[in-house]
Amino acid sequence: MRFIAAAPKGETLVQFAFEGALDSFRQAAKDNNFSGKEKELLVHYPGKPTRRAIVAGLGKKEKFTPEKLRRAAAAAAQRARTLALGEISVSLPAGDRAENTQAVVEGIALALYEYKRYKSKDGQPLKLATVRVDGDADAVRRGEVYARATCLTRDLVNEPPSDCTPRRLAEAARSAARRGVSIKVFDEKQIRKMNMGGLLGVAAGSSEPPRFVHMTYRVPRARRTVALVGKGITFDSGGLCIKPADGMLHMKDDMSGAAAVIGVLSALPELRPRVNVHGIFAATENMPGGSAYKTRDVLRAMNGKTMEIINTDAEGRLILSDALSYASRLKPQTIVDMATLTGACVVALGPEISGIFTKDAKLRDGLIDAGRKQGEKIWPLPLDDDYWEMIKSDVADMKNSGGRWGGAITAALFLKEFVDEGISWAHVDIAGPALVESDKPYRPAGGTGVMVRTLLRWLEDQ
Ligand code: BES
Ligand code: MN
Ligand code: ZN
Repeated sequence: MRFIAAAPKGETLVQFAFEGALDSFRQAAKDNNFSGKEKELLVHYPGKPTRRAIVAGLGKKEKFTPEKLRRAAAAAAQRARTLALGEISVSLPAGDRAENTQAVVEGIALALYEYKRYKSKDGQPLKLATVRVDGDADAVRRGEVYARATCLTRDLVNEPPSDCTPRRLAEAARSAARRGVSIKVFDEKQIRKMNMGGLLGVAAGSSEPPRFVHMTYRVPRARRTVALVGKGITFDSGGLCIKPADGMLHMKDDMSGAAAVIGVLSALPELRPRVNVHGIFAATENMPGGSAYKTRDVLRAMNGKTMEIINTDAEGRLILSDALSYASRLKPQTIVDMATLTGACVVALGPEISGIFTKDAKLRDGLIDAGRKQGEKIWPLPLDDDYWEMIKSDVADMKNSGGRWGGAITAALFLKEFVDEGISWAHVDIAGPALVESDKPYRPAGGTGVMVRTLLRWLEDQ
């Protein structure tokens, strides 16, 4: 599918209508009970010069947001697909032209995403090849880049876990880095040399070797340096503390943080934000093999701190201990980590909202605001030091589980031990939104690519 910034042409026009503002097609609206509310869609045939019009409702004009436009554009694109249209022209509602252009392009491109790699028969092949948007050319390009990066992340999350192994994830990072990003992939031997005891401990029970990946985007006269860190558990069986079958069912998504890092880094050379960005992830399976790490084992992370294993299913924080230690050594001003870290966060916030933990109010507000602009919800949860005693250990510096209560908070407090003093840090728990079970307008069930567009937006706003 290709997007072009151009005036309308061809037989199908996609338009948007605010509630009640139906002047140009009053009769068709009336006949079809269309009033311009959100989620409403009308297809009518006004004749010349527009043979077919798809009109998507935006709701009340005073309550307009680009996210409503993104969803409306997605609904129109879905209809264009069921109508088997080969091309459409989109005319934008009045307002911020660049913002609206980008929202429309994202909405359409993301709505038509499908993961079909393992379907032998292509059900209804997508015919929509050309989308003309009567908007800002630069914003068309930007919307395409944002959507492409998100879909790359979705693909990686959707891949079956025995295909998307740590080695394959590292290879995916390598091909995403092809243009304008440098990359180092560390194998097991090098991981051992760097004393990454958390990653090695989790990897011990698997027959797949772990990988550690460091991608770098550099720009001349950068304003500052940011490190993005992702959890890359390519399958989480729980290890010896094995998960019940239904709890294991979605655990191919446990590398969504790492996949988001890859998605973001893949887009930076095209967007050229004025910040240097490190993209870092540790990748391994968490399996219960004969050499698996055990409860009451003690692991030593790269920064020297020791961790007593209470539950082998709390593995994400163990591999992140090394990834955050590594990121700290690079001395960035800011670290943002993303992880499908805790079921507790899903209980707290459900499938649509990520939790953010940070002591830096500016960083928190910046990320939440970038998320709001991109239609991704992030909500602050407390990084409360008083809960530190829940993860105190008698034999090591800390234990890897503080029990059920406040599980998302104690996990975040654990991570904090691996970020050097003086670095501004935020942890985003994406356990809920990383993979979802139901379709939404521009997000089919499956891997969502959450945080990719938020981070791109946030980096561009720096
Ligand atoms: N990957 C899971 C967290 C998760 C759970 C993500 C549900 C998405 C949906 C993580 O490794 C995990 O198993 N966490 C445990 C921690 C506990 C043992 C302290 C959890 O949340 O139950
Ligand atoms: Mn786990
Ligand atoms: Zn996990």
